[in-house]
Amino acid sequence: MRKPIIAGNWKMNNTASEGVALVNALKPLVANADCEVVVCVPAIDIPAVAEALKGSNIALGAQNVHFAEKGAFTGEISANMLKEFGVKYVIIGHSERRQYFGETDETVNKRTLAALNAGLTPIVCVGESLEERETGKTESVLDKQLTDGLKGIENIADIVIAYEPVWAIGTGKTATSEQANETIGYIRKKIGELFCPKCAEKLRIQYGGSMNAGNCKELMAMPEIDGGLIGGASLKANDFATIANYNK
Ligand code: PGA
Repeated sequence: MRKPIIAGNWKMNNTASEGVALVNALKPLVANADCEVVVCVPAIDIPAVAEALKGSNIALGAQNVHFAEKGAFTGEISANMLKEFGVKYVIIGHSERRQYFGETDETVNKRTLAALNAGLTPIVCVGESLEERETGKTESVLDKQLTDGLKGIENIADIVIAYEPVWAIGTGKTATSEQANETIGYIRKKIGELFCPKCAEKLRIQYGGSMNAGNCKELMAMPEIDGGLIGGASLKANDFATIANYNK
C-alpha cells in the first residue's frame, strides 16, 4: 500500500513568523490525518517552522537543494544544511524553477541524487505545458523528464514524483481527475520500464495544479493518485487541512 502524501508548497510566501502562525493553526486540524502531511517552506523560514512543528505529525520540506556538498556557490543551500534542521523532503525541478531559473533535467538529476545521498526524500516535479498537451507531446515530454531527471537512482521508490501539468499551476484550471489519473498511470508505466515494475508499484506519485478543498476528494479517489502538491490552497490552514483530511 502506498501511503498518500499531501504536501504544501508555500513558494515565496510567508515570513518566518507568518509561517509559524500558519503551522500553529494547522497542527490541531491535521493531527488525525491518515496521510503523510508535509509543508515545504522558504529556506529562511526553516529554523522557526522546524521548532514550531516539533511533536506534531507534520513533516518539514524545503523547495530546492544544491547538488554540491559545500563550496563556492553563492546563494545556494546544501542538503546537509537542510538536514540539520530536521528537513525530510525537498521539492526538486518545480516548473517555476525550470521556467524562471534555468533548471534542466540535468540539474534536476544532480539535485535529486545529492538529496538522496544525504537522506532527504526528493519530490521531483514533472509535467507538460499547455502547448505540449495540445500538440500531443505530453508523453514524450514526460519520457524525457523521467529518463534524464531520474537517471542513476538506485531505489526509485525512495523518491516522490509530483505530476504537475504546467497549465494547471496557479491558474484555477485543474486537470480532470480522469486526465490526472491517466497521466499518472502513464508515468508509473514508464517508471516500470525505466526501473522495475514492482518498484513502480511502490512509488508515490502526487498530482499538483490548482488542487483545493473542493476538488481534493475526487482527485484523491483516483487509484493512481497518491497525494497532492498544493500551492495556493496550502497558504490557508483550513483549506490545507480539508485537503489533508480528504477521506474524513
Ligand atoms: P497551485 O500550485 O496549487 O497553486 O496550482 C501547485 C504547485 O505549483 O505546486
